[in-house]
Amino acid sequence: MFKLYFLLFSIFILMSCGKAEAEKKTGFSYENMSSENNKTTAETKVLASEKIDLVNKGIGPITSLKLPVDIDYTLASNGEAIFKKMCTACHRPDKKFIGPAAKGIMKTRTPEWIMNMMLNPEEMLRKDPLAKELLIEFNYAPMVKQDISEDDARAILEYYRTLN
Ligand code: HEC
Repeated sequence: MFKLYFLLFSIFILMSCGKAEAEKKTGFSYENMSSENNKTTAETKVLASEKIDLVNKGIGPITSLKLPVDIDYTLASNGEAIFKKMCTACHRPDKKFIGPAAKGIMKTRTPEWIMNMMLNPEEMLRKDPLAKELLIEFNYAPMVKQDISEDDARAILEYYRTLN
């Protein structure tokens, strides 16, 4: 019986030595491993403004919107004028400002989501997962509801199409 214990004990000692050796050789340790893991998750975390979600339609008055293939440039220039007047306090067409850049948004969001964000931002920021993440990314500066109609929002959307 004693022999058996001794044998198990020796195996245990040998195994722990082996592990210590392996750690020395490779610089491996459990501590390193967990900090490595943390690093990779931090590095691969995609910013909400760069996330692609072409399924989520958001929450608000726009439930379905089919865009024609061709851009309507008259509508777009109307939208550009409204954007310049109502939105440039916080948005720039091609770079991040108080809010995200407008450029490229048509590639990352559904038209419905974008329109709902323009027309119903308060509810979106409270309930929509992507909008909630955006709010955090933009240091809790909220997307503020502007006094625009559904037609105005549609015109701005057409202007966004020209920015891609
Ligand atoms: C007072 C500042 C402010 C104004 C004015 C403003 N926004 Fe925003 N907007 C934001 C912020 C900040 C965000 C990011 C989300 C958040 O933090 O709530 C945002 C987000 C958005 C988004 C989502 C962007 C994305 O990349 O997903 C759209 C679309 C948008 N705004 C459109 C508009 C339009 C159109 C107007 C003008 C009619 C406008 N905003 C006016 C601050 C503003």
